[in-house]
Amino acid sequence: MFNLTPNDFKRSILDCGAGPSSFNAQMTRSGGKVISCDPIYQFTVEDIQKRIQATYPMIMSGLEENFAKFVWGDFISPEHLGQVRMAAMNRFLEDFTPGIREGRYQIQSLPELSFSTGEFDIALCSHFLFTYSEQFSEDFHLAAILEMCRVAKDVRVFPLLKNFTGKPSPYLEPIKEELGARGYKVTIEQVSYEFQRNGDRLLHITHTKSGNQ
Ligand SMILES: C[S@@+](CC[C@H](N)C(=O)[O-])C[C@H]1O[C@@H](n2cnc3c(N)ncnc32)[C@H](O)[C@@H]1O
Repeated sequence: MFNLTPNDFKRSILDCGAGPSSFNAQMTRSGGKVISCDPIYQFTVEDIQKRIQATYPMIMSGLEENFAKFVWGDFISPEHLGQVRMAAMNRFLEDFTPGIREGRYQIQSLPELSFSTGEFDIALCSHFLFTYSEQFSEDFHLAAILEMCRVAKDVRVFPLLKNFTGKPSPYLEPIKEELGARGYKVTIEQVSYEFQRNGDRLLHITHTKSGNQ
C-alpha cells in the first residue's frame, strides 16, 4: 500500500487511523519501531473484539454485493479476504494489551496529534483520509495531512478514492495544490496493492530543503 522499502522498515513510523490492523504487531516482532494512533484505542480489547465480530457479517455482505468493485487477485474470494482480515485482527488483539502498556498504541485523533515536530521519519494513513471524503471535509483533510507533515518528514496516504465509489476524492487535487504552494514536494505514486478497483495510488508528501509553511 505504501511502497515501503527494506530501508523504510528501519525508520520510526507513525500509523494514523491504524484501527485493528496487524502492522504494528508484525513490525514490532521483526524489530521495527511503530506507533499506531486511533480513537478506538480508548476501548478495551474485549469491546474492540465484540465490535469486530459484530461488523464482520456486514463487511462480508458488503463485499458480496459490491463484488465487481474489487480486484480479486491476492484475495481469491470474499471468504478468503474475511479469513485474512480476521487473522490480522486477531494478531492486533493479541498485541493490543502489551502495545498499550508500551505506548505503541495511542488514543489520538487527527487533525491534532500530541507528538513533537519531526518526531517520526514516516507517517502513514490507510483507508481513512480520502476514503471518508463524504464524512470529513476538505478542511479536515488538509489539517490532518499538515499535522502528519508536522510530526514526520515523509507522509504517505492510501488509497485516494472517495468512499467506495472507485473515483478519486474531490479533495485530492486541491490538497495537492495547497501542499505544493506551502513548499512540500507532493507526488502521486503507483503501488503494487490494488484491492479497491482503481485504488492503486498513494499520495506521497516530503519536506523540501527550502522549508515548508
Ligand atoms: C477503515 S479503518 C482503517 C484501519 C487501517 N488503517 C486499515 O487500513 O485497515 C479507519 C480508521 O480510522 C479511525 N479514525 C476515525 N476518526 C479518526 C480520526 N479523527 N483520527 C484518526 N483516526 C480516526 C477509525 O477509528 C478506524 O479505525
